Amino acid sequence: MLVEIFPDYETLSERAYELVATLIRRKPNCVLGFATGSTPLGLYRRLVEGYRRGELDFSKVVTFNLDEYVGLPPSHPQSYHHFMWANLFQHININPSNVHLPNGMVDDIEAHCDWYEEQIRRVDGIDLQILGIGPNGHLAFNEPGSSLGSRTRIKTLSRATRRANARFFGSEEAVPRHAITMGIGTIMEARRLLLLASGRAKARAVRAMLEGPISAMVSATIVQLHRYAHVLLDAEAASELAYNHHDGISEPFDVH
Ligand code: F6R
Repeated sequence: MLVEIFPDYETLSERAYELVATLIRRKPNCVLGFATGSTPLGLYRRLVEGYRRGELDFSKVVTFNLDEYVGLPPSHPQSYHHFMWANLFQHININPSNVHLPNGMVDDIEAHCDWYEEQIRRVDGIDLQILGIGPNGHLAFNEPGSSLGSRTRIKTLSRATRRANARFFGSEEAVPRHAITMGIGTIMEARRLLLLASGRAKARAVRAMLEGPISAMVSATIVQLHRYAHVLLDAEAASELAYNHHDGISEPFDVH
């Protein structure tokens, strides 16, 4: 694993931008996996700015998002569809037919999940998957106890996740109970992982992810098995690490 620690969220986001922008320039038709939530917002803002400065062309970029709430239409302000269009897609020259998110409104969720996996295979997989981590150590909505071999499917959200996301909905009760999420097995097939974590609330989960035993109870620990996992932390998120990961810094990854 390549772990880099930055003094604050802005420098972390700047580094994430540098890595994603490099990939888009070297491989204009790259397949990017996107996450929602607070953590990648600094990266998305920079991607929009990079596009406006004429540094980035998204016209051939293909995207897949990790997850979506069940029961929220794309127009709902808290749906992940809405989040991605409001924070990124509507500001760049992405081709809407290249954008993929699970649809939380379908009748046949199982068939839809199979279709989603098929779409990822059809473009020969994800080049770079951007990830956040939940305070409970989840990756996407792979809550504690998720199979480490899981594929895209419906998951019941844990109490901890609904509590953490209540800030977006006004109350915990208003947070949907289920989500469609890429599985751990799906995420692990991405050629590169770029995981971002910021703030003290993530420090315990980050420690478990990097230094704890691999466990289905902390799905993010699976990144220890990925060949190209790149983890960007700010000082607060890194504050509970025991090992000095600074010592292990190697060259940033190249695009294959
Ligand atoms: C979102 C997702 C989640 C978040 C995680 C952290 O698509 O998959 O796993 O990455 O819950 O969320 P924030 O960044 O809001 O702390």
